Amino acid sequence: MSRAMIIGVGSSLPQRVVTNDDLAQMVDTSDEWIRTRTGIRTRRIAGKAENTSILAAKAARKALKMAGLTAADLDMIIVATITADMIMPSCACLVQKEIGAENACAFDINAACSGFLYALSIADKYIQGNADLKVLVIGAETLSTRTNWQDRNTCVLFGDGAGAALLTGGPDALFSDHLFADGRLNHLLYAEAAQSMNPALEKSDYDGSYIKMSGRDVFKHAVRSMERAIAKVLASEGVALDQLDLVIPHQANIRILNNLGEKLGLDPEKLYIKVDKYGNTSAASIPTALADAVAEGRLQSGDYLLLCAFGGGFTWGATLLRWP
Ligand code: UT7
Repeated sequence: MSRAMIIGVGSSLPQRVVTNDDLAQMVDTSDEWIRTRTGIRTRRIAGKAENTSILAAKAARKALKMAGLTAADLDMIIVATITADMIMPSCACLVQKEIGAENACAFDINAACSGFLYALSIADKYIQGNADLKVLVIGAETLSTRTNWQDRNTCVLFGDGAGAALLTGGPDALFSDHLFADGRLNHLLYAEAAQSMNPALEKSDYDGSYIKMSGRDVFKHAVRSMERAIAKVLASEGVALDQLDLVIPHQANIRILNNLGEKLGLDPEKLYIKVDKYGNTSAASIPTALADAVAEGRLQSGDYLLLCAFGGGFTWGATLLRWP
């Protein structure tokens, strides 16, 4: 049985860089507070022509280029997002149109910050049935459209961006994951209305579209849950922690990542951190970080790559891959 492997990656970030000092002009906060509590220094914020599907399509083109494929080669596009442009059509259909992937089926999934891992898992299941499939998995968000810019508890945390990974089957590929959800804890991290291009929401004072979070509770659950998911996936494949070459976690808070690394006993050099640059971009955070890691030459053929995430739902999981 063939499993999925990643043969191309790409990312697209909005042009505008917003610093902590910029935010301190808007709400009662400081660069010092944001840096020490979250590790975030800058984030990218989308402009008018940088909606979720456009960022996603740009990331997709880069992943195709790296893989040496064209959009017509794609069989499937899956977009993980909580900020699709509209409720219908899906962001994936807009990406399909934008890049001209006329042979691909296309759909979105919502698993919040764990969305990219859930989407990879779906891709792997299809590829198990047909090793030749070319599946484009994208994590794309414009969280800025669902951020209350007057709420210092949340507005300093989020950013926008998109990352894409192109998958196909390989006889020697390793793909193993464990995904989890606990809907009982939905009230700790949620947004009632999610589409990102809704003029009615922009004009009204309805605040149900904003992301709301009980930060401390989420923090505790995030560390514990990711630690357990990682232990499970490593045990199921008989891979030891020190065999891992790179760990790319969902980038929400540097203290969560360092805490997780310490609990696991992971060499800090192997923990890939980009939260300082991009903030928390939900489903986009792992694939944008992955594209940066590849560009920096951090992955070599045969490397063990571990991805892990935690987010609203709650949803969480860990995925182990071998770099082709
Ligand atoms: O992506 C999905 C998963 N999400 C996460 O994993 C996020 C998890 N949570 C976190 O990252 C952290 O809990 C936060 C960064 C959100 C908050 O950090 P914290 O250390 O848990 O702070 P806190 O919420 O307990 O607040 C501490 C204090 C409060 O003041 P008092 O009540 O102690 O006087 C807040 O009002 O910090 C205050 N505060 C701020 N001060 C300056 C909250 N936000 C700010 C701010 N600037 N931006």
